[in-house]
Amino acid sequence: MRSKIVAGNWKMNKNVSESKALAEGLVNELKDVTLENTRVIVAPTFVNLTTVTAVTENSAVEVAAQNMHQEASGAYTGEISAEMLTSIGVKTVILGHSERREYFGENETLLAKKTDAALANGLEVIYCFGEVKEERESNTQEAVVKKQISEALFHLDAAAWSNIVLAYEPVWAIGTGLTASADQAQEMHAFIRGLIADKYGADVAENVSILYGGSCKPSNAEEIFSKPDVDGGLIGGASLKAEDFAAVIKAI
Ligand code: PGA
Repeated sequence: MRSKIVAGNWKMNKNVSESKALAEGLVNELKDVTLENTRVIVAPTFVNLTTVTAVTENSAVEVAAQNMHQEASGAYTGEISAEMLTSIGVKTVILGHSERREYFGENETLLAKKTDAALANGLEVIYCFGEVKEERESNTQEAVVKKQISEALFHLDAAAWSNIVLAYEPVWAIGTGLTASADQAQEMHAFIRGLIADKYGADVAENVSILYGGSCKPSNAEEIFSKPDVDGGLIGGASLKAEDFAAVIKAI
């Protein structure tokens, strides 16, 4: 059975003491919460991974990185490798976030390489994708998403999919306060699961967790999460306050 997952993407927010306080607050909020088949993940910045890992060590909260470089080592100033992440106990990495695509020019060719490097090092990948506003307005969102998934991930074999989580994040909904309606999310998630089924068969499709992201918050999480193909969320703004993130987690 696929897991439900609520992941918090802290983006470029919180210094070390703020990250520590947020992680402590979250652990505290969740201490009496029973998480049935539900994983909770937070993704602080690289410099705060070690601190947050230490704070969450004996809790249900897992820690992910927000990005990594595709090469193993070498002259790539400012970059972080998969092995560096695993060496500090990180088990999951977010790849292909729309902000990485928009501001750092990441595309499917690069993301296929990053995915391979992550999986080769035993990291789980949360692969993000989603259409921009104009693509939704011209009703091309399914073609866009199909390209984003197939070109970055369809070279993988079926076994690799046990370490892939998909995160559908319509770009027009990220940080804008606009959310896809629960029905729009369900429609896209069902389409995505269908793509995976066509390529890899029903078993792989049924076992992959597909998260929704984009202005998901305490007031709308329950409705979005109630949809059968929505297996949780990737949460930005609402993950920056322990109380709000805990409320989103409880919604699942
Ligand atoms: P948001 O961000 O929840 O602030 O819209 C989501 C994301 O970028 O993952």
